[in-house]
Amino acid sequence: MIGTVQRGRNMATKTKLVAGNWKMNGLRQDGAMLAHALKERAAAVGETQGCEILLCPPATLLSEVGGILAGSGIGLGGQDCHAAPKGAYTGDISAEMLADLGCSYVILGHSERRHGHGETDAQIRDKIAAAWRAGLAAILCVGETREQRQAGSAGEIVSSQLDGSIPRGATAATLVIAYEPVWAIGTGLTATTEDIAAMHAEIRRRTPAGVRILYGGSVNPGNCDAILPLPDVDGALVGGASLNADDFWAIVRSYAAE
Ligand code: PGA
Repeated sequence: MIGTVQRGRNMATKTKLVAGNWKMNGLRQDGAMLAHALKERAAAVGETQGCEILLCPPATLLSEVGGILAGSGIGLGGQDCHAAPKGAYTGDISAEMLADLGCSYVILGHSERRHGHGETDAQIRDKIAAAWRAGLAAILCVGETREQRQAGSAGEIVSSQLDGSIPRGATAATLVIAYEPVWAIGTGLTATTEDIAAMHAEIRRRTPAGVRILYGGSVNPGNCDAILPLPDVDGALVGGASLNADDFWAIVRSYAAE
């Protein structure tokens, strides 16, 4: 079985996805306050919010945030997992452990893991397979560095990341791609709308039908209305702005009118 009943229900009616990546932020009290604030907003608008919503808190907060979100329609995801189901891997977390805490997704191959932890496409492919084994959908992050964009090789880099890290058998239910130019993450910079549309179209050509393609990198309430309606943009992976309930909700609500 892939995913949870909650995700299946959302996917039937809402194809867009807005995911908050809290990264290594939040103590228990902060996480609980943020989760409660978003749950209240979701309850106030009900099904008119227009998109599937996902929160990916640090592993330490998954249990508490998951408990708060229960019944809210907002999904829970992890930020990484190990490829093995269990074993002597000090400090790591398996996909099965994430599923056990109520996660339906896991972010994999984020540039902060690729660059900060030296993760390779082959390792990321094994992690995606692990996510599927545990019934999770994978959000695979791809994106070029500033130097690679300046050298004109952004398309080539992203294509090779896709080719190297997606296992056989991916479907719209098991895989989401997040295009996140590395130079746009946490910097306040965003790619031009032309560059975003062109890269998303290329990713669309290289992925199975229906796989959703999120944009990520400094998405905020001030730029989401220009980015989210672009062709082949099926939602956003939001870092910094997801730590503020008003900002994150403003991004979610940009889909409300559709
Ligand atoms: P940012 O992070 O929105 O803070 O740029 C996005 C991400 O890294 O997923």
